[in-house]
Parts: sequence; structure tokens; C-alpha cells
Amino acid sequence: MSATFDAEQEAGKRNLWLHFTRMSSYSGSEMPVIVKGEGPYVFDTRGKRYLDGLSGLFVSQVGHGRTEIAEAGARQAAELAYFPLWSYAHPKAIELASRLADLAPGDLNRVFFTTSGSEAVESAWKLAKQYFKTTGQPSRYKVLSRDIAYHGTSMGALAITGLADIKYPFEPLPAGGVRVPNTNFYRAPSFVASDKEAFGRWAADEIERAILREGPESVAAVYLEPLQNSGGCFPPPPGYFARVRSICDKYGVLLVSDEVICAFGRLGYYFGSERYQYQPDIITFAKGVTSGYAPLGGMLVSDALIEPFLSGTATFLHGVTFAGHPVSAAMALANLDIFEKEDLLSNVRAHEGAFRATLEKLYDLPIVGDIRGDGYFYGIEMVKDKATRETFTEEESERLLRGFLSQALFDAGLVCRADDRGDPVIQLSPPLICGQEHFDFMEQVLRSVLTQAWQRI
Ligand SMILES: Cc1ncc(COP(=O)(O)O)c(C=O)c1O
Repeated sequence: MSATFDAEQEAGKRNLWLHFTRMSSYSGSEMPVIVKGEGPYVFDTRGKRYLDGLSGLFVSQVGHGRTEIAEAGARQAAELAYFPLWSYAHPKAIELASRLADLAPGDLNRVFFTTSGSEAVESAWKLAKQYFKTTGQPSRYKVLSRDIAYHGTSMGALAITGLADIKYPFEPLPAGGVRVPNTNFYRAPSFVASDKEAFGRWAADEIERAILREGPESVAAVYLEPLQNSGGCFPPPPGYFARVRSICDKYGVLLVSDEVICAFGRLGYYFGSERYQYQPDIITFAKGVTSGYAPLGGMLVSDALIEPFLSGTATFLHGVTFAGHPVSAAMALANLDIFEKEDLLSNVRAHEGAFRATLEKLYDLPIVGDIRGDGYFYGIEMVKDKATRETFTEEESERLLRGFLSQALFDAGLVCRADDRGDPVIQLSPPLICGQEHFDFMEQVLRSVLTQAWQRI
């Protein structure tokens, strides 16, 4: 390759620190550099095309290269690049807040913007704490979340995250994070393994048991994703959310729907809670709200939760400089215009069955144990033995996922995620504009690479 290519590689390896990445893995090999995006595809420095089967990182809902969003951002930067939401408003933040409130379920009429998902998750915890202190229940501070669930990396969000391995190096974390079982039906305890509804009742009742164990007067909120990402796409079992909602109501605990991934069409609806028909007290969002054209996150809050902050000297004592940035807000509005113009939610709903059916062809491979998900969001769990559901040892998982799969899938032109933070899974979350030709490509690449992987075990 050219001298420019070599210089870029050298500078990247010398100066850039990649997130959640073993930097040593690039010491003897090329660091992938993505330079351009177009629709559901991205291109690297060499001009090689990849299908973006993960929407970047569950972000690029409308696909890449949308000039109308770029132009909306440029217009806003020229008009008013920045002003804070501390004591002031700006028109795009107002317009976006109203639009999101209109789209959100029930009385989630108030938007508190952030710049990221972690900040949104942490803001919701801070709001819950201050709300309860303001309304005479100062001992409520604990938050429940599911085992293996990912809710972000800042210290507060990390205390809610249920992945032990990414928490240890940063302990002690803020007090109050409590784990409950996740909703992986494929690995359900044997006494509920043959009945999804019984499994859902049990998993929801585990939340009640945790509330009682901790002391209901100490519990502020339960954080749940509509469809849990980490661990490989666990949809809620039937009846789960209805039961969780009534448990939260019984003990006066807030239900936070963490929709950083599941909002904005990922499951065929603007919000995942709509798809699974439950009413949260708070929705946290980020990622797809701008399709990644600029950073933005936030929380949608119920009328009841803002009410104590609407009179006298009451103030939510929290804020961040770039939250609700005018350029991000303008780009989010342009993004939502595309959702409407192209009816992307209908596209997902019309094609999600075909997506599932195409992926389910992979069940004929011995390594494919479970394929699960909804909408345009699927996980494929790999096993060593289909009949017993035996999973891989740590060494095999290391050799299979890190040593082979991730690179082989990428080399074959597919961006997706091979993840072993729970049991080993491959995750797919393509842009919402995708259709059958893209599903077929994903299936073909996976078939070929998983067949090779099986031969290497
Ligand atoms: C459910 C969920 N919550 C929170 C976060 C944190 O978002 P961010 O990386 O924008 O801080 C993520 C990120 O993937 C997420 O999936």
C-alpha cells in the first residue's frame, strides 16, 4: 500500500486508543480504518466494502451517507453552533423534545437531554434519587438490573451494568446496584425450562423477591431493556413486563426502560416498550435518535416525576455542557424526518419475519444452538453440543471468538459482533433500510465462517 496508508497505520497504532480493544492485537496486523459509508455499507481505506450488520454499534438506523442529515447539521452550526440548556433553551431542543414526547408512550412528556447512553442511564438514577428525597422517601436509592445486562460504562451506569468482568477493575462502584436473573429462556432453570410463561412469571417474581430482600423502602428503580442486548438478544418472555409493572407499582419502585438500543425502530416501533406493551416511568435513549450523525442521548420522564421540580426553588441538580447540542438536535429531527418519509418502522415490521427465517436456515449447522431476537435485532448462540447445549470452555471461546470468528467475519465483508461476555454469541443489528438481499448476504457469510469455525474446534 501507499506511504499515506502506512503513515496512517503507524499514527493510529501510536496515538489512538481503541475502546474495549486489546491494543496488542494490532501490533503485528493492520488496524481496520473505515473511511466512508453509503446506505447499509461501509468502506475501508483500501476501498473494500462491508455490510454494516451491526449499524456501527446499534446506531446507524437510516444507514450511512444521508446528505439531508449532514446538511441539517451544517445549517444549524451556521445559525447557532452552541448554546447550553442550562437556564436557556434553543429552538431545535424544544422542537425535538416535543416530537419525542409525542412519539413516546403514555405521559412521558418531558425530555432531559444528555450526550450519551451512559449519561442517560446515570441521569435516570440521579433523578430517581432526588425525586424520592424531594418527596419524603429519602432511603430509596437502590437499583435493580438483570445479570449480564449492559447499561453503560461511567461509574453510576457501571454500577447498574450486570457484567462482572468489566466492573472489577473499577470497584468500589457507587453503592446500590442489585442483580436479578436475566431472561435467557434457552438457559432457563430446569423447573421452568419447558414453559415460557412460567419462566416469565418466575423471572418477574425474582424482581419482587429482590425488592423484598433489599427492603422495599430502599429500592428506587428497576432498569430493564425491552430486549436485552448483552448475552445475545433475550426477548422478554410472555407476561414478563406486565408482571414487572405491577410489582413496581405494588412497591412504589420506578420502572426505567433502557432503550439506548431498542428505541428508534430497532424493534419496529419508535420505542421497545410500545412493542412489548408496557408503560415505563422513564425511557433512556441515545444511539438511533440521530442514527449516529452526531452524539445525543436523553431520558423521557413521566409527568409525575417532573411534578415536584415544577414549583418554588426545586431544581434537578444535574447537567452536562453538550447535552441537547443544537447541531445534534437538528440532526435528530432530520433523522426522524427520514423515518417518517420512508416509513422505516413499516419496513422493519414487514421484513422482520423474513430476517428471522433467513437466519433460521443456519440451524442446520452443528454449532448453532439458538437464534433469538425480534425486529432487526438478533443473537445467534454457538454451542459445542446442540443436544446438551454445552457451551465452550474459556480456552475454546478465546480461540474461537477472538482467535478466529471476529476477523473471519470481517474479512468476509460483514461487520457484526462476536461476543463472549455471556455465552458466545454473534449479534446482528442491521440498518433499518435493509431487506432480503442483505439478509441473504449475512446468512451466506455466517454459514461459511461458522462452518470453518466448527472445523477448528
Ligand atoms: C442498553 C444500553 N444502555 C446504555 C448504553 C451506554 O451507551 P453509551 O455507550 O452511549 O454511553 C448502551 C451502549 O451500548 C446500551 O446498549
